[in-house]
Amino acid sequence: MGCGRAVFIFLSLLSLSTSDGDDEFRNYQISRKRFPPEFKFGVATCAYQVEGAWNEDGKGENIWDTMTHTRPEMIIDRSNGDVASDSYHKYKHDVAIMKKVGVHFYRFSIAWSRILPDGTLANINQKGIDYYMNLLQELHRNGIEPMVTIYHWDLPTALQNQGGWMNNNIVGWFTDYARLCFQLFGPLVKHWATINEPKQICHAGYGIGIGAPGITSGGLGEYLCAKYVLLAHASAYHVYDKEFRPSQQGKITIVLDSDWYEPGTPADEAAAEVRRQFVYGMYANPIIYGNWPQVMIDRVAIRSQLEHFNRSRLPDFSPYQQRLLKGTFDYLSINHYTTYMVSAIPEPPVGHASWDLDAGVRLWQKPEWETAAIDWFKVVPWGFHKLLRWMRTTYGDHEIYVTENGVSDRTGELDDFDRISYYRRYMSHMLDCINEGIRIIGYTAWSIIDNYEWNMGYVAHSGMYYINMTDPARRRIPRKSSYYYNHIIKTRCLLSQCDD
Ligand code: BGC
Repeated sequence: MGCGRAVFIFLSLLSLSTSDGDDEFRNYQISRKRFPPEFKFGVATCAYQVEGAWNEDGKGENIWDTMTHTRPEMIIDRSNGDVASDSYHKYKHDVAIMKKVGVHFYRFSIAWSRILPDGTLANINQKGIDYYMNLLQELHRNGIEPMVTIYHWDLPTALQNQGGWMNNNIVGWFTDYARLCFQLFGPLVKHWATINEPKQICHAGYGIGIGAPGITSGGLGEYLCAKYVLLAHASAYHVYDKEFRPSQQGKITIVLDSDWYEPGTPADEAAAEVRRQFVYGMYANPIIYGNWPQVMIDRVAIRSQLEHFNRSRLPDFSPYQQRLLKGTFDYLSINHYTTYMVSAIPEPPVGHASWDLDAGVRLWQKPEWETAAIDWFKVVPWGFHKLLRWMRTTYGDHEIYVTENGVSDRTGELDDFDRISYYRRYMSHMLDCINEGIRIIGYTAWSIIDNYEWNMGYVAHSGMYYINMTDPARRRIPRKSSYYYNHIIKTRCLLSQCDD
């Protein structure tokens, strides 16, 4: 029996209704509608997670190289991305399997230190440029559109040694790097993302210190990072807009992530909204309206005053910077994986600077929710529905790209029916949102191949293709989910049959 058929039988056996535990969606039915013909399906990866070749052909060291080499205890299996999925050598295989799955676009990132080994224009590495040029050409030959992220967490270590995202010079360094990317690759790229998930860059990297560069400066360095990430994005946006868009005719945005935050009781709605504003709003508000969300400005100012700071720990944007930030997106984006419940709590004690305490709410998850590769990763498809609705009610009627969604497991099994079930339910809620009039124009599955999952190392698998990370050949072996995604793309239908 072919794998494709096994997937269909699985789909038919599964009851169409799923009880998601939320009142509105209690007897939820998978949508029997088709995706609109112009809707685009893609897959995503990122340089550090797949490329490997960490010190080949002139690549400079980045902060994930440095952290995994010097502090391996930060990673659950003490592994690193030195070889990862070896896409640096196997990119043609990657493109071939994407073609097999039938995707319309491939979202990948450029490794800053591969083309600028010390982060600046002082030293440009032609071999790094060749790699991305070859990848882009291979994609074009195969009719797959590139969606290119300029920065996905792998800052050149040379720049981190000067303060990294906490040094305001990063706005200039990033602008130079982005301009070079537009110059070199722009003729082949119509979709750009400046930066992936600033929340993770600043909170994990400079706040709680679990991500590279591993700095713990919660509610302080973390906010400086946020300010400079946003200004770097805005600056790159304007460079594209003025210098390249007229001839290259592409689109550009920043990729933001958010879980869904559901109030524990109706009385907790205000607390849930504060949390949403501290997560998505913290980065969306500046690029849409030009400033931090008001609730953040107010809460951090009050807490900073009680902590005897002379001014708010949240740095402000000058009127000029506000004008620069406002409107720097061609569409909104969302990376989404899971959901939390939120309860209001009494004001947390002051004295310990922390973004979490500044938000000042309690998060929890229901024990009955399905769990994926890690405890906090709960499978809650209706949360995606509510998040997409919230984006429209909060920010208005913008086009939205889902730039990441998917699930990881610890088993790595090829018969990944849990992954199929995740995709089917999450995409069904997204399709409902499209039918509610929310302008979602594309969906990006994370991920096409198994890769290096940051602090989870190689313990978590998220690929539609399995890779045995001890196999020097890093063969790409299809999982059932790759056939299912192919079915969705071909038929635009989540079930074996749709109503027409
Ligand atoms: C990141 C990816 C990561 C994925 C799954 C996102 O936060 O952009 O790099 O692998 O989540 O955890």
